[in-house]
Amino acid sequence: MRRPYFDNGLVTVISRLVAFTIFAKVKAVSRVFRQKTTSLSPRLESMSNSEILQAAVKNPEWWRTAVIYQIYPRSFSDSNGDGMGDLRGVASRLDSLVKLGVDAIWFSPFFKSPQKDAGYDVSDYCDVDPLFGTLADWDDLVVKSNAAGIRLIVDLVPNHTSDQHEWFQKALAAPAGSPERAMYIFKDGKGANGELPPNNWQSVFGGNAWTRLEEADGTAGQWYLHLFDSTQPDLNWENPKVADEMDNVLRFWLDRGAAGFRIDVAHGMKKREGLPDVAVQSSTMSGDVQAEMSIEQLEAHVPYWGQNEVHDIIRRWRRVVDEYEDRAMCAEAWIMPLNRMARWVRPDEYHQTFNFGYLECPWEKTSLVKVVTDSLKIFGSVGAPSTWVLSNHDVIRHVSRFGILGTPPQGDGIGPNSEQPDEAIGLRKGRAATAFMLGLPGGAYLYQGEELGLPEHTTLEGKYRQDPTYFRTKGERVGRDGCRVPLPWDSKGGESLGFSENGESWLPQPSSYKRYARDLQEGQAGSTLELYKRLLNERKAFGMGAGEFRWAPEFDGESTLSYLNNGVLVISNFNGEPVALPAGELLVTTQHDLSIEGVLEHDQTAWIKI
Ligand code: GLC
Repeated sequence: MRRPYFDNGLVTVISRLVAFTIFAKVKAVSRVFRQKTTSLSPRLESMSNSEILQAAVKNPEWWRTAVIYQIYPRSFSDSNGDGMGDLRGVASRLDSLVKLGVDAIWFSPFFKSPQKDAGYDVSDYCDVDPLFGTLADWDDLVVKSNAAGIRLIVDLVPNHTSDQHEWFQKALAAPAGSPERAMYIFKDGKGANGELPPNNWQSVFGGNAWTRLEEADGTAGQWYLHLFDSTQPDLNWENPKVADEMDNVLRFWLDRGAAGFRIDVAHGMKKREGLPDVAVQSSTMSGDVQAEMSIEQLEAHVPYWGQNEVHDIIRRWRRVVDEYEDRAMCAEAWIMPLNRMARWVRPDEYHQTFNFGYLECPWEKTSLVKVVTDSLKIFGSVGAPSTWVLSNHDVIRHVSRFGILGTPPQGDGIGPNSEQPDEAIGLRKGRAATAFMLGLPGGAYLYQGEELGLPEHTTLEGKYRQDPTYFRTKGERVGRDGCRVPLPWDSKGGESLGFSENGESWLPQPSSYKRYARDLQEGQAGSTLELYKRLLNERKAFGMGAGEFRWAPEFDGESTLSYLNNGVLVISNFNGEPVALPAGELLVTTQHDLSIEGVLEHDQTAWIKI
């Protein structure tokens, strides 16, 4: 791997020592803050808050700069031919992630689950579902990935369990008002016979957020809350037992080698007292809030997202995670706008949060300037790194999003009857957008398959669909299956393109996936896979994750946008005529056609060592 041009090895050692000293001081400061004592060292006492936070941004804690690769276990690689990816499949393909150059893997849930929401309906938090393997497979993966220098992050789903979880089963068997029922949110219905739901809340997946029980004697009983599918009852976070149980889950995985957690629905859990009706119905997890609303108005607007009391839960988890070294939490908190989201990553709360403002930003100059500037400023103001993300298992893959004019709302997919994306334009913009993103300082998240430029499966027939959104809306919203299709590893690898040896695959791949198969891209100059490798390699070599960022208007023309990070100029041409590239060493270009030298065409990005 190439070192920065100024580094002869000594520089690295010295900078690590300096960084470590800063890191130690910042840790000391935050400890002092937490203990609420006043014994700051004279040097730290003389530092302003912003200097301290600035130092925090620069410390070498891995998660501040890491590139984290999301594995959706059922679709990564299948080792036993049941058509479902598994942990052994991941172990057998670890080398591909080492070659790619990622720092950590975030796994979507592989815990015991009836799989009504692809594992986000957990029936045992402390065991692996047989579909994905065993705890021994997990242990083996920890050893192998640690040896390869890759950390493993697991997905914690604390807002709800599966209805098959023993806590819920016990609650069903127990009478109203019992301690068993107090683990969840059971309420009597409204109306003369309790026949109306307790309030007007709607499920994110469509339909009512309440389901009425049928009691053992056949009579209609209480209602229980499920902000997602009816098989995913919401836990009652007013009950201290819930918090105690979840601490045990955290410790279980931390003891078992997890580097941290991605926290599912990280802004959920607490519901506003009295469970008031919502004023405006919304099926999104950000609740369609308005930027100008005050924090209090926002909390009241959607009484189950982003309530102030959630911060107590986060702080409690942070204390648990801090008992271990080197661990981190990343929040899935769809709470807009960004200044509100930043409250989730204050120094004693989550370490990071997915930057959904960035994910939702179109490939367009003015919007990008705003979201990047705001993100660095707003997250920086609380001492947190910004993260950057374009794709995950809940949204339309970004190459397909960029290939259509209007983006469907969050959680909706593209179906055979929708407007179809332009694949070539989408791929071109998607690659340019990734290259723009990976030069930014902070943490970055990649979703499996994006390194191949995989598009969404946009013509998946209804009979294959599994996302509860599809069923709960009677097909009106096709849901998220299109971004969850198994990966193509080998163009000659049989029916499932090397995903499983016998061609099985829980969702069919679109015919286009053959063209994107990994074997066709490996070692091919200009391929999307080689582009990603190159970007990650140069990002590391130039320390851009922790770099000095500034916009570089002196390089901008009307259709281009440029920034500098640690001596690397990142320049994107959005929609204009080809522009001449500034002088310097060309490190990366997204042009497919590498014979086009010295110019940057529309929807392309280049990295240049200035
Ligand atoms: C999160 C997950 C999503 C899941 C939902 C309910 O948004 O990312 O996949 O369906 O939570 O757990």
